[in-house]
Amino acid sequence: MYKYLLRFSFSVSLIFQTTQAFSQESEKVFITVDSDVIQQQSKKFGKRFDVLSVEDSVALVRFDRDALPWLSLSMHRDFSRCGGFVLHEDISDAKKTLQGHGKRSWAKEVSFQSYEINNDQTVKQLIEAVQAEKIAQTIEKLSSYHNRYYTSDSGVESSRWIGATWAKLVEGRSDAHLEYYEHSAWPQPTPILTIEGKSDEVVIIGGHADSIAGFWRRSTSRAPGADDNASGIATITEVIRVLAENSHRPEKTLKFMGYAAEEVGLRGSKEIAEDYSARGIQVAGVLQLDMTNYAGSEWDIVFMSDYTNDEQNAFLGRLIDTYLPGVSWGYDQCGYACSDHASWHNQGYPASMPFEAKSRDKNPGIHSSRDTLERMGGNADHASKFARLALAFVAEL
Ligand code: BES
Ligand code: ZN
Repeated sequence: MYKYLLRFSFSVSLIFQTTQAFSQESEKVFITVDSDVIQQQSKKFGKRFDVLSVEDSVALVRFDRDALPWLSLSMHRDFSRCGGFVLHEDISDAKKTLQGHGKRSWAKEVSFQSYEINNDQTVKQLIEAVQAEKIAQTIEKLSSYHNRYYTSDSGVESSRWIGATWAKLVEGRSDAHLEYYEHSAWPQPTPILTIEGKSDEVVIIGGHADSIAGFWRRSTSRAPGADDNASGIATITEVIRVLAENSHRPEKTLKFMGYAAEEVGLRGSKEIAEDYSARGIQVAGVLQLDMTNYAGSEWDIVFMSDYTNDEQNAFLGRLIDTYLPGVSWGYDQCGYACSDHASWHNQGYPASMPFEAKSRDKNPGIHSSRDTLERMGGNADHASKFARLALAFVAEL
């Protein structure tokens, strides 16, 4: 009863605020969304949802800045998407995304990328060293920050903690260094750990460091983000620990990234991927680890087939079959640009996103105060499979 009352009053206040927000001339912004939502959102927002063009099932839309929270709410309620759109600085930036979608710039030239599996001694040694307990400890630490929101103090502190932790793991190695990629529009940096290889090519293992909860006052909401995405960062941290302890010397340069501001439109990874593309950096492969610790489906690892590279996905599947006996895997789709792999894919780089479950079986507690390690059974057994896969990927690619 109270629940309905609450929902009713929430809806009334929403309508009230919506009318208020729409009553004045609002500043226009440009967003891109997947084209399957056009019909319903046009009906809901009328002229405010102004579709300018559609390309490769992505729509460019002019929209009211003030109405963004309501669009976000509708994407969440009607399409089960938590943001579901990407906000652009200006129209030329939006157009770049549209044109970039599906294109393969450097990746096209390296379509001869070898996906051979021939480094089994090294892989076996590395994957045996993975400890689920270490991953669990990192998840606990990261979720103890009040939130890791991209504009909050704890969002900045937690990202600096990640950087410091990664730097400590490679202490004393002259071939490794930590940098913070400072973003121009918000305070949370992206820590990047580099382990130099012998060639110019780069392999990127990344995940977002920020967390989010609620629709209003997000900078003060409690957002432990244990699964989304302390789990991915903790998985990456374990990969770094294992590589360092085994004194692994990579062929290609390895870069580990803890992206800022993913939850507000993939903004950190977008800036970095565009920068790398503009600088002509040769990225041979990108692995995105976002939500690795909730075992919601019959498959252990589910590869998102959209905004990712088919050949690299198939290679990862073969790595599981070769090195992770008993780990089951399959394919599913996000249905939209759901995480940072899309930023790299949009620049033409081969990206993959191994996920904890099928989309609809994902952790139901994400983006709320319920996203805790305790609610995932208090251990990181599921995430440790992703750490092993990432190590096999690093050693074989
Ligand atoms: N971790 C999620 C992505 C995700 C959620 C993947 C469920 C697969 C299933 C990510 O942090 C997120 O919340 N992404 C946003 C989109 C982004 C553009 C703001 C989302 O899913 O709405
Ligand atoms: Zn999320």
